[in-house]
Amino acid sequence: MTTQVELKRGLKDVYLDRTTVSFIDGEMGKLLYRGYDIHDLAEKSTFEEVIYLLLNGKLPTRTELRGLESFMAANRAIPQQVLQVIDIVKTAHPMDVLRTAVSALSAFDSDVADNSPEAIKRKGIRLAGQAATAVAAHYRIRQGLRPVLPHETLGHASNFLYMMFGKEPTQDEAKLMDVDFVLHAEHSTNASAFAARVTASTLSDLHSAIVSGIGTLKGPLHGGAAEAVMSMAHDIGKPENAPTYLRNMLDHGGRVMGFGHRVYKTEDPRARHLRERARTLGQQRGHPEWFQILQAVESGMVPYQRRGIWVNVDFYAGAIYHLLNIPDDLFVPIFALGRVPGWAVQVLEQYENNQIIRPLLQYVGPMNLPYVPIEQRH
Ligand code: CMC
Repeated sequence: MTTQVELKRGLKDVYLDRTTVSFIDGEMGKLLYRGYDIHDLAEKSTFEEVIYLLLNGKLPTRTELRGLESFMAANRAIPQQVLQVIDIVKTAHPMDVLRTAVSALSAFDSDVADNSPEAIKRKGIRLAGQAATAVAAHYRIRQGLRPVLPHETLGHASNFLYMMFGKEPTQDEAKLMDVDFVLHAEHSTNASAFAARVTASTLSDLHSAIVSGIGTLKGPLHGGAAEAVMSMAHDIGKPENAPTYLRNMLDHGGRVMGFGHRVYKTEDPRARHLRERARTLGQQRGHPEWFQILQAVESGMVPYQRRGIWVNVDFYAGAIYHLLNIPDDLFVPIFALGRVPGWAVQVLEQYENNQIIRPLLQYVGPMNLPYVPIEQRH
């Protein structure tokens, strides 16, 4: 006999715990990190400032910010052995390589087993820097190029582009990358942060939690959407093809990547910043067509707004990366680079008031079957 239970498939609308990290109002399209509006942070702060804010719960003073920036810059390098691991797995998807690199980095982190708040903060900052070095090194290694050593003084976003392309980016390029990291830094208990929390809830370590987060972010329903959006834009080819493309896709029950969200039932507040930047960058680079195609898709999706399906953060991100000459398969690793501080702070909060996360599944399979010896099975 099956007992009646209330199933919460996908844990929709389930509150797992309380948080002081980020607030999302899905009806109003509002996102706060530690009480600060994402619009202010995107326009006025840097990624390093946001890392400090997330990990410490307050905006840094100038001295505190300098302290974090120099600690991060001094810890960006990754050991030669990890570069060798990257070389061994270089033909894999960059997200798989990043997952493997973070796992390998744990072997060289003297804080690895220390779950104290101070160690989590140190490891979170270190990993945010090292993960960028790993992604850039893989990008070069797979092309047969030598990795570029991290720059000693550049900010995190500038340094990432410097390590990718071997030359310092312009201020505009660095700002674009920085805003992108700020917008992706934290988003409450989304699937990858939840995975990181589940791992931390067993009192496992931060590297393991972040490996769980990376593996979870990879899927096209989560961070993988930006790559899928750009592949859709390529398939559409020109703006006038968008309506037919959408009709074919939606009539067959397909999902338009970069649209819809578990929490936002209006426009994702992060999308606004990326939309404007994708438009400007496309014009500056003489390639307005990607923005025009995406705009045509957004127009075609207007009727779905009444069902709560609006554009999300991933929709315009891909066009920006593409215009910065970043290959499509690096889009989701770049999302991960932005999200490292978010995973770290979620783990920090989980440890502060830990209870192992262990939901139930209602068993609906057969019961009490007679065991059949292998030679009698067919
Ligand atoms: N295109 C077409 N229909 C959609 C879409 C979409 N992108 N998203 C949701 N729907 C429909 C869905 O088919 C369902 O319709 P019905 O009730 O008739 O079956 C209804 O809206 C509710 O969808 P759901 O799958 O029950 O909603 P969910 O909260 O479980 O899923 C989601 C949220 C993000 C997985 C989903 O909206 C989706 O698959 N979007 C496309 C992938 C994407 O862009 N992901 C990035 C999310 S934002 C960044 C991040 O967190 O990584």
